[in-house]
Amino acid sequence: MKYFRPKGTRDILPPESYKKYWIEETFRKTVSKYGFVEITTPVFEHTELFLRSIGESTDIVTKQMYTFTDQGERSLTLRPEGTPGVVRTIIENGVKLPGRFFYIEPMYRYERPQKGRYREFYQLGIEVIGEASPEIDAEVIEIGAQFFSAIGIKDCSIQINSVGCPECRPKFRQELVNFLSDKKDKICEDCKIRLEKNPLRVFDCKNENCQEIYEHAPKVRPSLCRNCYEHFLSVTKALDEREIDYTFNDRMVRGLDYYTKTAFEFISSRLGAQDSLGGGGRYDDLVEELRGHEIRLPRFDKIKDKFITEQPIRPQTPAIGFALGEERILIVAEPPKDVIQPKLISIIYFSEKELSYAKELASELRQAEISVYINYDLKKLRTQLSYADTLKAQFAIIIGEDEIAKGVLTLRDMESGEQQNIPRNEIVKKLADR
Ligand code: HAM
Repeated sequence: MKYFRPKGTRDILPPESYKKYWIEETFRKTVSKYGFVEITTPVFEHTELFLRSIGESTDIVTKQMYTFTDQGERSLTLRPEGTPGVVRTIIENGVKLPGRFFYIEPMYRYERPQKGRYREFYQLGIEVIGEASPEIDAEVIEIGAQFFSAIGIKDCSIQINSVGCPECRPKFRQELVNFLSDKKDKICEDCKIRLEKNPLRVFDCKNENCQEIYEHAPKVRPSLCRNCYEHFLSVTKALDEREIDYTFNDRMVRGLDYYTKTAFEFISSRLGAQDSLGGGGRYDDLVEELRGHEIRLPRFDKIKDKFITEQPIRPQTPAIGFALGEERILIVAEPPKDVIQPKLISIIYFSEKELSYAKELASELRQAEISVYINYDLKKLRTQLSYADTLKAQFAIIIGEDEIAKGVLTLRDMESGEQQNIPRNEIVKKLADR
């Protein structure tokens, strides 16, 4: 029997793995400059967490989750995205807020695989929890722009919108329901269910016919309440001050239910159908939603002479973040040459007599921070050189009996094939200086 990787997963080998490492390091450096700290959360969580946060009628929850029952009869789900797990972690560990967190982790969605869309994929994400100012919305968008510029992606455009809040969304929802009331027989079966359960989700539909109908649907921004509208204006002002280019996208509602106010996406024109390099937005109600509702017992009020149940005071914990799709970034990012060709020296020797000499040299080179590969399975020079080529070594150092006797080594430039003799006591310095 032959074994294949499961559909929608990828094997990441060199040179792509070098590129992946470079993307992640650049991300770490970029977000660290803004005070973000790295966190890791479990790959699977209780299914309920995702139902509560992402929303029961979203495509992710209804069609794309990898859910299973473990041997203790618990329903668990491989995380389809990072935000719910981060919020749960913050609440469960009583992390002091405000706080800024980032993660680089694999996510799982049962989707139809195509270029830039997989069932296992990595997200580079940031979450700011406990900050409400429109300045932080602009800063989060700026971080995305800074990161894309640091990895040489020049064609990334930013689209923004506001999706309102629980105060203004019912108005928009009603307008949408009114608009669709005489079009029910023209929309797809999925959209009929969406219309019943969560009308806003009709905008997630990929069906061309439905999309054409929704082109004429009401837009969310004219329905915004004063607070959401002013927030949106302040975000655009802060983006202008930071000289960040963006365009408005009235149709963007994002595929997750927890968003409030600002929503944005980073788009690349080089990606084809899956053109979103990343996206995010505010989720001002999610922390409270996941904190759950305290049960307050009634207390006797002497003045009112009756039992009363006080509603718990629940201060809002505003939050905002984004996640970028690493596989899509891998397609468009252009790393400098030395990223996919790290500096490596291959040491070649021919008999057991030269082994201790070779090991000593390797150890000195490694102490000088130079990467060294010794092939201990002795083979002919030509075979060893060809393997050094496969390793993409920059240089090979050839050690033979003659070389040891004369106190020199043969240094071969693997790209040009040029060879020169270098005194043994100069070689470490010479290579370290390069
Ligand atoms: P999302 O828009 O669902 O948002 O995903 C963010 C990014 O992940 C997408 O723009 C895309 O680049 C990548 N992505 C999504 N699905 C796939 C897939 N099947 N294959 C490859 N890449 C994919 C979120 O996940 C939110 N948690 C973002 C967020 C963080 N909002 C606030 N904080």
